[in-house]
Amino acid sequence: MSTTAAIHPPADFAAGARISSRAAYDELRRLALADPEAFWSARARAGLHWFTPFETVLNWQPPFAEWFTGGTLNACTNCVDRHLTGSRRNKAAIIWEGENFEQRILTYQELHRRVCKLANVLLGLGYKKGDRAIIYLPMIPEAAVAMLACARLGIIHSVVFAGFSSEALRTRMDDLEAQLVITADAGRRRGKEVPLKKNVDAALEHCPGIRHSIVYRHTGAAVEMREGRDLDWTELMRGSAESCPAEPVPSEHPLYVLYTSGTTGKPKGVVHSTAGYLLQTQSTMEWVFDLREEDVYWCTADIGWVTGHSYIIYGPLAAGATTLMYEGAPDWPEPDRFWRLIEKYRVNLFYTSPTAIRSFIRQGNAYPERHDLSSLRLLGSVGEPINPAAWNWYHAIIGGSRCPIVDTWWQTETGAILLSPVPGAVATKPGSATLPLPGIDADVVNLKGEPVPDGEQGYLILRTPWPSMLRGLYRDPERYQESYWSRYPGRYFTGDAARRDADGYYWVLGRVDDVINVSGHRMSTMEVESVMVRHPAVAEAAAVGRPDELKGQALVVFATIKGGTAPTSALAHELRAWVATEIGSFARPEEVRLVEGLPKTRSGKIMRRLLRELVTTREVKGDTTTIEDYSVLLKLSGEGKDEEELLLGKPAAS
Ligand code: WTA
Repeated sequence: MSTTAAIHPPADFAAGARISSRAAYDELRRLALADPEAFWSARARAGLHWFTPFETVLNWQPPFAEWFTGGTLNACTNCVDRHLTGSRRNKAAIIWEGENFEQRILTYQELHRRVCKLANVLLGLGYKKGDRAIIYLPMIPEAAVAMLACARLGIIHSVVFAGFSSEALRTRMDDLEAQLVITADAGRRRGKEVPLKKNVDAALEHCPGIRHSIVYRHTGAAVEMREGRDLDWTELMRGSAESCPAEPVPSEHPLYVLYTSGTTGKPKGVVHSTAGYLLQTQSTMEWVFDLREEDVYWCTADIGWVTGHSYIIYGPLAAGATTLMYEGAPDWPEPDRFWRLIEKYRVNLFYTSPTAIRSFIRQGNAYPERHDLSSLRLLGSVGEPINPAAWNWYHAIIGGSRCPIVDTWWQTETGAILLSPVPGAVATKPGSATLPLPGIDADVVNLKGEPVPDGEQGYLILRTPWPSMLRGLYRDPERYQESYWSRYPGRYFTGDAARRDADGYYWVLGRVDDVINVSGHRMSTMEVESVMVRHPAVAEAAAVGRPDELKGQALVVFATIKGGTAPTSALAHELRAWVATEIGSFARPEEVRLVEGLPKTRSGKIMRRLLRELVTTREVKGDTTTIEDYSVLLKLSGEGKDEEELLLGKPAAS
């Protein structure tokens, strides 16, 4: 591991890079660690537009941080208005391509016009600073317009991934006590329509707090519009004025809440601030992507996830980039769609996930080879550990062995990339996110919180606050404290295991909690379990992750069923569909195994660790498994002595 040969930044890349040598980079990191407040303060003053300058850089009352207090600013001004005074005003801010090949380009000026119009609409409907809006939209420019219009008025937005079900949408609306929802008639995915407005209607049956839903007509699908509540986006925009002053908000004003999976059944509403969040997303656009004025930058994430927030919208727009947005699936109408897009728009910086890369490998080299990918200058990866084979393929076949790869580690909670190579300065090793970025004080520790020696596995923690860190969980300070700060008081617990090698490089190994990572989507096993037990046939359920060559991890659910129900494979199939309906189709379990009993401790806790080992180490399929197989596993896992405490049942059917 530690001896992996490093790949040095290509000389021509380094020559043109902002940070072009390891020495320069080390000096930047040294300065940032020596005096983080001076470091961030200088960047914040120079890098952001302020209405009122801040007075205090950091107020750290663990675990609560406030950055840049006393200052006021506006995220929308920083992402749009400040680019209108010079040559950027006619630069493409967003290049959009629909799944059906439709194309739209919004310059910064045009983006400004639309955002102002929508902001005026919202004002006209009575919305103001501190109100909460749910955004449930497909990957269309209107999603950016909606986010920025909210930001312009200080309305806190919460984007809900368009793949979520109406039930998941309802839970988020409820928790956020949202007053407004912005949606579309439908989205497009692999040639089919995703009925967004219908899902909103179902959710609104139970959300009396929502006063309006604004509906953008995207596909033209027939929708029901309820008088007084449902409003047509285009009609509202028609009469709306084109200028709208931005609301100055304090640095710490929440920009958005994004729900993510935690270790319980209830999603966590991660709260991000305005100033610190913008500063760090913008800074990482420069450090990690080495953004140049003329670049076309493409992040393939969905705006429903944090990567979409930080690296399609806020980071790139704050940095004045041209950001490409693509609506649909990577394999539609053919598996070469991404490569076609890169060729067509001459994309320079490309940021995607290891799962996507592995599926491209499966489809074969013929698809990328059909296209001219020579515009690419840099490749990025995010969301899960990238295995060296996928890294090497990405490097050779997509990057033509010419582009550095930035393997970026971060989380919904961290807001911005924290570990990543700086491409002109840091040599890469396939599978390692390399080094902490400037201002990031990471460590790998044991259970007691002591640093582990190089090469040993431990828990990844962050020892000091950083500007884009989450400010809390929405209306739940106890859970915030408990989830991230209780294990190592004063230090942030990431939930990831990692190793650091002799060169100081970090190798992130994956989650150590009940969160699993399927295709780069974070999922809570507890959330899946609580959905399972809501099904009338299910008595108990335990969900675990199984290593999967394509998706990183696949979801396997063990379930016991209530007396009188037959454990048929039809039922197992129905239960998979049930989870997909209740959460969203991306959460559909790979496998549901109906068993007679689940392994438990004497106190009645389900031993998920055992089930994890079972699915990881064994290819056990349905009826062929015997009780003996489980007990052997029990001994192997060191639980032999507790064997009699375990009521492990025989799988009934798979
Ligand atoms: C995992 C996505 C290894 C990790 C931005 C983390 C990674 C979780 C990497 C956060 C990486 C993300 N290498 N693991 N480069 N990037 N992860 O909140 O387990 O959806 O804790 O944020 O993804 O997922 P989230």
